Amino acid sequence: MKPEIINVSLTRKLNDLSYPIFVGNNLLSQSKNIIKQFVYDRKVILIHDNFFSEKENSNHNFVDFVKTIKNLSKSINLIGISGGDKTKNISQLNLILEKSLSFEISRDSLIIAFGGGVVGDIAGFASSILLRGLDYIQIPTTLLSQVDSSVGGKTGINSSQSKNMIGSFHQPIAVIADINMLTTLPRREFLAGMVEIIKYGLIKDVSFFEYLEKNHEEILNLDQLKLKNIICMSCKIKSLIVKKDEKENGERALLNLGHTFGHAIESFGKYDGTIIHGEAVSIGICLAFKLSNKLGFCSQIETTRVINLLKILKLPTSLKDISISITTSKMLDKFKYDKKNKNNQLTFILNERIGKSFIKNNMDISVLKKFLDEEI
Ligand SMILES: NC(=O)c1ccc[n+]([C@@H]2O[C@H](COP(=O)([O-])OP(=O)(O)OC[C@H]3O[C@@H](n4cnc5c(N)ncnc54)[C@H](O)[C@@H]3O)[C@@H](O)[C@H]2O)c1
Repeated sequence: MKPEIINVSLTRKLNDLSYPIFVGNNLLSQSKNIIKQFVYDRKVILIHDNFFSEKENSNHNFVDFVKTIKNLSKSINLIGISGGDKTKNISQLNLILEKSLSFEISRDSLIIAFGGGVVGDIAGFASSILLRGLDYIQIPTTLLSQVDSSVGGKTGINSSQSKNMIGSFHQPIAVIADINMLTTLPRREFLAGMVEIIKYGLIKDVSFFEYLEKNHEEILNLDQLKLKNIICMSCKIKSLIVKKDEKENGERALLNLGHTFGHAIESFGKYDGTIIHGEAVSIGICLAFKLSNKLGFCSQIETTRVINLLKILKLPTSLKDISISITTSKMLDKFKYDKKNKNNQLTFILNERIGKSFIKNNMDISVLKKFLDEEI
């Protein structure tokens, strides 16, 4: 299967920017041709998920990839961190920064993030502030990171208040999404990634949503061609949105469908694995559709159709599906930290129908309160 290359092109006032996303099978075990243009003769810091290691009996894609970089680069140093959102914090960031500096990096050094969204977000953020900004490459190894977090340049960490409160916009110079990496991914993590894929259909493309409805069984059975299709389709939708609105001044906020509720739910889980990002967003999407329906924007039939697809995938679809203590007042309190808010007014992403999301500013708190009282 030939790799597909999707270009992310950003038009900026001073410096236009473009970078490739490579999507395909076995890209890492034969990565030399792809990677050499980026790493040749540079000092490389490889920040990787501890799921991968250099031991010979570890994931051979990782072992092969490290060997390739050793051959092509000036030098390579590895920093291993644990996956999971508990790791995405300021003390872990500090360790990465100090360790990277101890390797005597310079402005032409390169960071490579090898792991899921957690490694990608924290390593990307470290790259944006080390020596005031280093190049970095994303090698996403979870479905979620291949279709979402590795693309678009949002980097960051969680604060004790809420998700992703500290961060930067810093675009990678390349993304390499190797579908083969997904064979070791636990089913729960795979399903969490499906949520962000479904999200693209819900925001922008009803025919993509229909494709997912029709083909979900083959996708769950890791049909390589269908997997490649949905990863490419997701990256294309995201890159078109990011192209128009890199810093989220408008349309990019649509990618937040389900995330205002989702981030709040996730933070109540204290990032201990009780609920993971995609699961929280799954509930968040259902709440966003139910709220859209309640406010008269979206029909009951469309709302039920969305909830049904997530239910078929055995994802949580209601606050009643999870065993985390949440109250309406705690939830409303969390919404204050949402980055979409302006002038202390809450903003939500709602839907007119499947394939058409919109930004709803100045959300009425009393309506939200009544809605949440019924849902919790
Ligand atoms: N920057 C963005 O635009 C953006 C977008 C969406 C989500 N996110 C962030 O992404 C994070 C979630 O990403 P995630 O779901 O990839 O989580 P993750 O990085 O925690 O990975 C999930 C789990 O899978 C393991 N893992 C990784 N690759 C594996 C593989 N190939 N085989 C087996 N196990 C593997 C990890 O060790 C971890 O336990 C959240 O912090 C979320 O906020 C960021």
